[in-house]
Parts: sequence; structure tokens; C-alpha cells
Amino acid sequence: MSFQLSRRRFLGQSSLVAAAAAVGGGQLVTMAPRAQAASMDLRYGPATGVAKLNANENPYGPSREAVAAMTAAINQGAYYVGPTVPMLMDMIAERNGLTRDHISLSGGSSGVLTSLAIEKSREGKILGPDLFWDTTSKKAVAQGIGEIKRLPKTKDLTVDLDALYNAITDDVAMVQICNPNNPTAIMSDPDELRAFCIKASKKCTVLVDEAYNEITDNPEKNSMVSLINEGHDVYVAKTFSKIYGMAGMRVGYMMAAPEKIEALERFGMGSYAMNQAGVAGAVASYNDQKFVEYSKKKIWEARDMINDAVKKNGLTAAPSQTSFVFVNLGSLNAETFRQEMAKQNVLIRGIYQDYTNWSRVSTGRIPDVQRYVDALPRVLEAMGA
Ligand SMILES: Cc1ncc(COP(=O)(O)O)c(C=O)c1O
Repeated sequence: MSFQLSRRRFLGQSSLVAAAAAVGGGQLVTMAPRAQAASMDLRYGPATGVAKLNANENPYGPSREAVAAMTAAINQGAYYVGPTVPMLMDMIAERNGLTRDHISLSGGSSGVLTSLAIEKSREGKILGPDLFWDTTSKKAVAQGIGEIKRLPKTKDLTVDLDALYNAITDDVAMVQICNPNNPTAIMSDPDELRAFCIKASKKCTVLVDEAYNEITDNPEKNSMVSLINEGHDVYVAKTFSKIYGMAGMRVGYMMAAPEKIEALERFGMGSYAMNQAGVAGAVASYNDQKFVEYSKKKIWEARDMINDAVKKNGLTAAPSQTSFVFVNLGSLNAETFRQEMAKQNVLIRGIYQDYTNWSRVSTGRIPDVQRYVDALPRVLEAMGA
């Protein structure tokens, strides 16, 4: 293909992406299928000039080592994934004081979270705070086998652990907590959460989704994984999508007691569902502490920029322990705000449930976060604030 043609197609596609960004919701790449098929320049991320801050991705990954390992793995893509799967499981087990039997891998943590939601929904309801990352629990509801029981709102958006405990009625099979929570970004106090998990797991299964744990101020203390070895009915989910910056490579895992993992595996495809490159990248980056620290530093820097801008513009935000900020827009509508930001080529999230004035923005590349910071006063003015 000539450079001219390639460039024209690229530009055509860019404008389509920009148009999609202006009108669309969470998804960036929503090109017309024909345009997509015609193009040889399939895009794998945001178009140039578009700040993609709507999916809690970490553009500082994958690490250099992960990219090298994945490239090598792609060349062996003819083969089903092999010994790297037990290798990754052993690495995860070692870090967490567990064994391979305590771990189930899947394509992103969404895989194992969905499996658990389906398994538990056969037994009863899934209980959670009013707002949490409920995408996978909703899958069970969509299959007609589940129901999500939500707590009432709290004023400060924190998870009321006492209320959560009191809401564990006989018809509840599992309580689900994201810590830090998504979309609120707030983290529960680890000592209080630990006490809650011990108490609550006597009444039902407890799932702690720790997708953002490594970004918090003290990941080890903030994780509930030690409760597994102590014999409590607790599951902990983690992912390579966030701190490791591998959302597109789809590797995540669940940790729980071996008999629970065995039961969970009945609902998924285990290692058969894994792809060669994703697992290679996960193996290469899991113990790369230097990269993890770098990634975290960038995320924190971006978060500070957002928090500063929020304050400077007379707004407030929930205290974030993670890679996104939940901004209180006061009297403004978060969906209109999202649309106005999209006009500035800044993609963020719109309304969650009936939290009409709360807006979630992810951290991202520093120049992209700067775009949000620069656009903020313009957008607020356009909205008459
Ligand atoms: C709290 C939480 N858990 C799990 C996930 C799923 O991520 P993945 O399937 O990429 O591991 C997300 C994604 O944003 C999330 O926010």
C-alpha cells in the first residue's frame, strides 16, 4: 500500500474516531464496520490527539520486558499456551503464600469474576454497596439466574461495612466489595475491612476485587489475600490490566481455597482460555518491581494533576487511592459534562446510575491528563458554571 493511500485511510479513520468520541459513550473505537474492514490501519488505542481517560487503562504499560516477551510469544502463536501458565501461577502463589491450586487464571479478571458471579447466583443474591464494579455480577442477572442487592447510598460514598454486614440475609450468597472501589475510587480501611471479611464470611462468601490494589499507598496491608490461608470463605481477584498496563492482553486471576478454585474452574475454560502473548507478558512483568514503581509514580502524578485542577476550578472529588478520580460537579450534569469534554477530544465517563453530578476521569499519559486540566475551565464555562 502506498504511503499516500495509507495516510488517507489513516486520516479518514481518525476523523471517524473523533466523531465517535464526540457522540459516543465509553467506547472509543466505534467505526462503521465497513470502514473498519476496509482499513489496513487498524488502531489498537486512542487516535492521536485524543485523550482517552474513560476506561482506567494504564498507558505506561506494558513494561519493556513484557513487550519483548509478548513479541517472542506471538511468533509461537501457532501453539496453545503451555508451561508459562503453571509458571505464572507459581509466581502468583509464591508472592501470596499460596499454592498453584489456590489460583484460577482467566482473560482479564472479568473472566473469573463472571464465573464466580454465575456460580454464586445459583445459590442466592449478590450483595454490594450502591455503587461498585458490578459488570460481571450483571452477567448473572442477564442470564436470569441472579439478583444484585444494593445498599442505600451513603453521603460520603464510602462503603458502610456495618450496614453491609447487617444486609447479609439468608438469601444472600455472596457479598462483593471492590477495594478501592470503582467508580468512587475510595478505599475502605484495611483493618475494618479485614474484620468485616472475617465476620461476614461466616454468613456468606466474600469476594474482594482488588483490581487496583497495587496503586494504593500500602498494597500489602490493603490486600485481604492472607484471609484465604487463614481459612475464611474469601475470594480475592486481581488483574494485569491496571498497574501492569496490560488491559488489552487480558490476564487476570482469582485466589481462593483449592476446593473453591476447583468449583470455580467448572464455569471457565482455565488455561485453555489463555493466550500465549498475554501470559508471556504477565510472567515478564509480575516481578518487575522497578516497572511497577514507575507505573505507580506516573499514576500518582496524573492523579495529583487532576485533583489540583478540580480544586482550582472550585470542585471537589472523592479521596482517590487509585488510577481515577470521581469528581463532584455540584449542580452540573455528568453526561453533558462528558459530551462537552468529548468535544475537546477528552474522553471520560458519564453518569453512573442516579449519581447525575458525579464524573469519573481516569489517569493516563501526562499530556493527556494535561488536556483534561486545560479543558476543564473551558467546559465548565460552556456549561454556565
Ligand atoms: C474493580 C474492577 N474489577 C475488575 C475489572 C476488570 O478488569 P479486567 O477484566 O481487565 O481484569 C475492572 C475494570 O475496569 C475493575 O474496575
